[in-house]
Amino acid sequence: MTKKQFLGWGFIAVLLMWGGNTYAQKFDQLAKTPQLGWNSWNTFGCDVNEKMIREMADAMVSSGMKDAGYEYINVDDCWHGERDKQGFIQVDKKHFPSGMKALADYVHSKGLKIGLYSDAGNTTCAGRRGSRGHEYQDAVTYASWGIDYLKYDWCDTQDINPKAAYSTMRDALYTAGRPVLFSICEWGDNKPWEWATDVGHSWRTTGDIYPCWNCEHNHGSWSSWGVLPILDKQVGLRKYAGPGHWNDMDMMEVGNGMSEEEDRSHFSLWAIMASPLIAGNDLRSMSDATKKILTNKDMLAINQDKLGVQAMKWIDDGDLEIFVKPLEKGEYAFLFLNRADQAQDYMLDWSFHYMKDDISKHEVFFDKKKFNWRDIWRGDSGTTTEKLGLNIPAHGVRVLRLTPR
Ligand code: GAL
Repeated sequence: MTKKQFLGWGFIAVLLMWGGNTYAQKFDQLAKTPQLGWNSWNTFGCDVNEKMIREMADAMVSSGMKDAGYEYINVDDCWHGERDKQGFIQVDKKHFPSGMKALADYVHSKGLKIGLYSDAGNTTCAGRRGSRGHEYQDAVTYASWGIDYLKYDWCDTQDINPKAAYSTMRDALYTAGRPVLFSICEWGDNKPWEWATDVGHSWRTTGDIYPCWNCEHNHGSWSSWGVLPILDKQVGLRKYAGPGHWNDMDMMEVGNGMSEEEDRSHFSLWAIMASPLIAGNDLRSMSDATKKILTNKDMLAINQDKLGVQAMKWIDDGDLEIFVKPLEKGEYAFLFLNRADQAQDYMLDWSFHYMKDDISKHEVFFDKKKFNWRDIWRGDSGTTTEKLGLNIPAHGVRVLRLTPR
């Protein structure tokens, strides 16, 4: 190799390293806190079209959700048409006649970002074209459309290695160069929390959610799950969550048929567990109660706290459970959950209590360290120098934010 050639190759290598590094950094910054958005599946299933998605972007702005921090408008399964002769995926022209680029431009013009759904297998769960064997083509196509988020599912993947399949799509997205939040959806089947920290920004921990408090909804060969069953499946997972890689408890069912009390609990639990918060209701027609829940700034602040620690279950007293999420600056969020069908009164003498969190290394002796507290949903306040007496409605929560005195 001549000196000139050596310098030439050296220059290209530096460029590649620099480029790769910038891309990696761009991807790194995408989910420092859990992602906030909306997804079409829970309400619309396969019935998606560009008009509805545009209206949803409008509603995200007019409802105040955008101001509250929601960012992504995600089109789930069924936007796909066929592949062209070269294998590039086309949009379903009947339901998206203006094309995906125009839809992305519209969503961007509202100051929002747009997500799509695909699948690691040959077909998606609804039988559309999956990305298997077309990962790089799809990533380049999404980048050319201006897509910001990819939810990547796990249907039709019998003989595929999950880590390899998800890493291939991650590499394809990196290579295409546009920053894309990569949301892994393989239902927790292959313990993604053990291998996906550097692969995706979040991973589903369970099968699909269903709008009920404590049920298993049987679909024949598979089940979907209510709020409590999904919560209970999070045991042991909190150590895997952190900035850039979150345990995803699935899209929310707030506004989709549960009682207001249950919706408030569902939202509070997902928030304190540092799950991505992806609304799944029709934003165009939601009630004021639903809007108030989804845009509660104090609850969202707990979810978005920069420390990025998922709540731990501190006390398990049968139907009464207390979750604690350490926050920045020595603050804490406490959630009192009443799983039961009747209201409960709960007394807590702080001075008898001690809390240690092996993950954030936070430790509090409540007889020595004193806090002021404020109830996130009701607004009343108090201090830990006095006993706490709470009435917690059936299927309800009380959420307190503790600030050092
Ligand atoms: C499921 C996934 C759902 C939804 C659906 C689309 O596998 O868990 O959230 O995306 O596929 O077909």
